[in-house]
Amino acid sequence: MNIIKAENYKDMSQLAAQKLINQVNEKPDSVLGLATGSTPEGLYKEIIQAYKEGNVSFKDVTTFNLDEYVGLTKDNNQSYHYYMHHLLFDHIDINSGQANLPNGDASDLQEECSQYDNAIQQAGGVDIQILGIGLNGHIGFNEPGTPFSIQTHIVDLDESTRQANARFFDSIDNVPFQAITMGIDSIMQSKGIILLVSGSQKAEALAKLVNGPVTEDFPASILQEHANVTIIADQDALSELSE
Ligand code: PGA
Repeated sequence: MNIIKAENYKDMSQLAAQKLINQVNEKPDSVLGLATGSTPEGLYKEIIQAYKEGNVSFKDVTTFNLDEYVGLTKDNNQSYHYYMHHLLFDHIDINSGQANLPNGDASDLQEECSQYDNAIQQAGGVDIQILGIGLNGHIGFNEPGTPFSIQTHIVDLDESTRQANARFFDSIDNVPFQAITMGIDSIMQSKGIILLVSGSQKAEALAKLVNGPVTEDFPASILQEHANVTIIADQDALSELSE
């Protein structure tokens, strides 16, 4: 694993943006895997700025997001569809038909999962997947105990994940109990992975990811077995890793 030390959140976001911009400039029809949550918000701001300055175009890019809550409509302002449009897609020249998220409101969720994996395959696979990490080691919404062999699927969210994400909702009662997520196997098939980590509250999780045993009890640990992972972490997040 390649670990890049960022000074702070802004530096982390800029370093990640530059990597994605280089990828798209080198391969204009890149397939990007995108993530939601607080961590990539700065990355998306940097990308929008670079687009507005004419440094990159997304007109031939295809994207696949990691996950979506089950039961929220696309226009619900807590859905990841809403997040992605609001924080990125509406501000760049991506073709909205090529910006994919799982549909958590599909009538047949199993069918939605297999169609999502097929669509990724048909697009040629993900060139670079952006990831965050949950306090419990989840990547996407693959909670501890998820088999490493699994592709896109429906998950029951951990109570700790519901609590961590309650800050985005009016009340924890409104946080969905389930999500649809790319599986660990789907994520591991990406050609490259960039994992972003910021803040001291993630320091223990990052240390476990890098130095802990590879175990389904800590899903992110599987990244030790991927050939092309870059971790971009700020100083606070790196505080429990030795030099
Ligand atoms: P966060 O979420 O970026 O909001 O901390 C990351 C995650 O839970 O995967």
